[in-house]
Amino acid sequence: MDSYIIESNKKKSRMPARLDLVQSGTGLILGVFIWMHLLFDSSIILGKGAFHFVSKNLELAFLSDTGHGFPIAVFFAVIVIGTLFIIHAMLGVRKFPISWKQHRIIRDQMQMMNHSETNLWYIQVVTGFIMFFAGSVHLYVMFANPGSIDPYLSADRIVSGHMWPLYLVLLVSVVLHGNIGLYRLCMKWGWFAGKDARKSRKTLQTLKNRLIMFYLTIGILGLLVFVVIGINHRDNVGERYAAHATAIEQVHAMEDTRESEGVQTLEESQEPEESPVVEDNQDLEESPAMEESQELEESQPVEESHE
Ligand code: HEM
Repeated sequence: MDSYIIESNKKKSRMPARLDLVQSGTGLILGVFIWMHLLFDSSIILGKGAFHFVSKNLELAFLSDTGHGFPIAVFFAVIVIGTLFIIHAMLGVRKFPISWKQHRIIRDQMQMMNHSETNLWYIQVVTGFIMFFAGSVHLYVMFANPGSIDPYLSADRIVSGHMWPLYLVLLVSVVLHGNIGLYRLCMKWGWFAGKDARKSRKTLQTLKNRLIMFYLTIGILGLLVFVVIGINHRDNVGERYAAHATAIEQVHAMEDTRESEGVQTLEESQEPEESPVVEDNQDLEESPAMEESQELEESQPVEESHE
């Protein structure tokens, strides 16, 4: 009798369906988050100034009087994303093959059927497993250092902090997992199904493959740019780009003041050359802001006398 009650309770349970819904919901939010995250992150391809601008705005710098932003915003974002990440992973583990035997059976069936959707499911299992470790390390680093999102500090972390292998593995895993996951969500819940289901599936498959190529390209390019910046910045680990940006702003301000006072030559004041930050750093000269400053100087007689 007892076993009958347990059996009938089991049949009535809506729990698995609810858990599936939560897994889809958290997956959807995380997938869209990763799209945005990799877009923002790859702003480094456009230059240190672009990444600095993006990261400061994500820290809500436009709301602060000093323009420094609030690293606490990043801290809260990490808590929210980290919680969703853990919930999503815990629910995903339910579907993992839990023994070598189960794993072998699945592999044998996959080889026999060669069914594309089953292959995608297997990629989800493998990449999800990798992300569980690599994603946790990354989220913990961000949780512990919320104020450290800066072109130089990030590049230092990637090169001098030896994070690049982890980021490379995480990048490939998350791009595959996120885009395949969003594609499977559309299939599962019938989003964008249209009138002709077969045609819609083909369109979604093409979109998924293009998104994977796009995000892998900008992700790898962005990582390469970070690595180059990190290698050039190895002797100044821990120094912020913001310090350079401030120095450049000071140079601009000085030039403006001198201009408004009608001063014609730079020889009269050696202050910009004496600035230790500007003088010693090659990277600064390559930065978009400095290029801008040089262009400005080139258009004035001041630069000619300087040369
Ligand atoms: C709110 C939470 C998160 C924040 C604040 C954050 C922040 C960052 C930052 C600043 C970088 C640049 C490198 C660095 O400074 O170390 C980065 C890179 C990266 N993040 Fe996150 N991240 C978050 C969540 C995640 C999650 C959940 C994943 C995937 C599981 C992820 C995957 C990656 C990958 C793959 C890279 C390297 C991208 C590349 O340059 O190619 N991030 N993240």
